[in-house]
Formats: sequence, structure tokens, C-alpha cells
Amino acid sequence: MTISLQGKVAIVTGGAMGIGEATARRLADSGASVAILDVDRDAGPKTANDISQNGRVCEFFACNIAVNEQVSRTVDAVVSKFGTIDILVNNAGIQSYGDVVSTSEEDWDRLMGINLKGCFLVSKFVVPHMLKSGGAIVIVGSVQSFSAVANSVAYVTAKHGLLGLTRAMSLDYAQKGIRVNCVCPGAIDTPMLRWAASLAPDPDEVIRACDRMHAMGRIGKADEVADAIVYLASPMASFITGAALVVDGGMLVPAGGMGFQEGGTGAATHK
Ligand SMILES: NC(=O)c1ccc[n+]([C@@H]2O[C@H](COP(=O)([O-])OP(=O)(O)OC[C@H]3O[C@@H](n4cnc5c(N)ncnc54)[C@H](O)[C@@H]3O)[C@@H](O)[C@H]2O)c1
Repeated sequence: MTISLQGKVAIVTGGAMGIGEATARRLADSGASVAILDVDRDAGPKTANDISQNGRVCEFFACNIAVNEQVSRTVDAVVSKFGTIDILVNNAGIQSYGDVVSTSEEDWDRLMGINLKGCFLVSKFVVPHMLKSGGAIVIVGSVQSFSAVANSVAYVTAKHGLLGLTRAMSLDYAQKGIRVNCVCPGAIDTPMLRWAASLAPDPDEVIRACDRMHAMGRIGKADEVADAIVYLASPMASFITGAALVVDGGMLVPAGGMGFQEGGTGAATHK
């Protein structure tokens, strides 16, 4: 079954690359007019131009989602350009590493400003438009919305917070025509993951280790997350709100992690 979003208007934050780019492309393929909101003034326009082929509509809007005035102004600009907003994909995010001692207050505030407050701000300015004729919001969380990774205190905390924001917003607007859901990816091959791997002496080994963390034995592709996002944003998910859809190749399934599955009790009798 194909999803048609003909006539719909979608915002994708962080749409210049990675999961956001794949999502913007899928939404445009489905007929939506797409506004990419991103801080990257090089990659953003290139991605928008690249998507805007063969009748597809995609436009870049420079916007730092952590800054109230920029978000307010940009949402107004999107509505001036496209007339309304039906779909919001709150995807933009950054990664940082550290525990509570080594994470500086500045790094904590920067990550929270983008990963958590940014989602709040864009929703804050988009929801009034959606209240006029309904809409769907998809928030990009993470497997780290449910579980923790060592040395990632700010990221894990923000991703847990996004699940709370999803549930709180879904209740506030459940009877007002707006659905709010969360997609929670495992490790996905994007510039963010490649950057994180590049911090290690052997980046290829980090990617291989990421492969092994998933029950399916591989990391995911941005398109595989985009498909889940587009589904939740579409009328095919009309009775789904407040949900978290894990897109993780089975990463969260194995008790004790994949290492335990390979070497723990019962492993010897399982091929
Ligand atoms: N890649 C993974 O393995 C993975 C796993 C789980 C969750 N996620 C989440 O998916 C989302 C996208 O991740 P990705 O891997 O595609 O990242 P990415 O770094 O490849 O792309 C992120 C995009 O967000 C933009 N961005 C960053 N700060 C911004 C800001 N303040 N305002 C507007 N745009 C901003 C960047 O310019 C970039 O275009 C993030 O929320 C991330 O936490 C990623």
C-alpha cells in the first residue's frame, strides 16, 4: 500500500542530512510539500534542491531550533509560503559524551537546548496552526529513550525527556485532531554515527561493534527510520497517538545484551 500525502505540508527539523534528509525525501516522494529547518546553510539548500526534482516540493529554511525567535519567525515563514502545517517531524539533534562530572554545564545546556527544548519550541509554534485542521507530530527519540549508554548523560536524559514530551503532548491534543508519536532508532548509518565512530582509534571496528549490538546483526539505514516516521505521520496511523515505535533491528530485545546471548546460559544449545 502506498502512502499519499498529496496536498500536505511538512516540517522536518535537521533535514539537511541523515535521518532528517531521508525523511524529507520520503515525505516529498509521498506528495507533501516539505520545509527543511536546519542550521547547516551548505548542506540544507543542497538537500532541498536535490529533493525538488520531478515535481517534488522541498525548501530550506535556516533555523536554529534552540532559539525561540528563530523558530517563531521560521514557522511564520513556512506558513506564509505553504499556507499551513500538517506534519511536524522533530528530528534535529546532536550527540555529546560525558558523565555528570566531565560534562560541562555549557555542553549540557547546548544539548538540552537542541535535543529537548528545540522539540518543545518547534511544537509550541506549530501546534496553533495544526489546531485549525489537525496534524501529526513525530518526535525522533532513540533506543536511549528507554535504556542508557555509559558516558552519555546529557544525550540519554534528553532522549528520555522526549518520550515524556511525546506522551504529554499526545494527551493534550488527542481530542483536538493532533497525534503525537515517537520513533526510537537503534544505531543508524548517518553523519552523526560516522562522527561518533571517528572519535575512536579504529572507526571501522566501532561500526562493526554497532552491527553486533543489534539482534539482526547490522546497523540500520536512514531510509528504514524514515519509513516508520512517514507511516506515523500518515493517515494509516490514524488511531495511534502517544506511542513509541522502536526501529532498532531488535537491539532492545535481548536480555543481558547480545554478548550474553552469544556466551550466557543457553547459548551453547542455540545455533
Ligand atoms: N544516527 C543514529 O544512530 C541515531 C540513533 C538514534 C537516534 N538518532 C536521532 O536521530 C536524529 C537525527 O540524527 P542523525 O543521525 O540523522 O544526525 P545527523 O548529525 O546526521 O543530522 C542531524 C541534522 O540536525 C541538524 N541540526 C543540528 N543542530 C541543529 C539545530 N540547533 N537546529 C536545526 N538543525 C540542527 C544538523 O545540521 C544535521 O543536518 C537525532 O535526534 C538523533 O539523536 C540518531
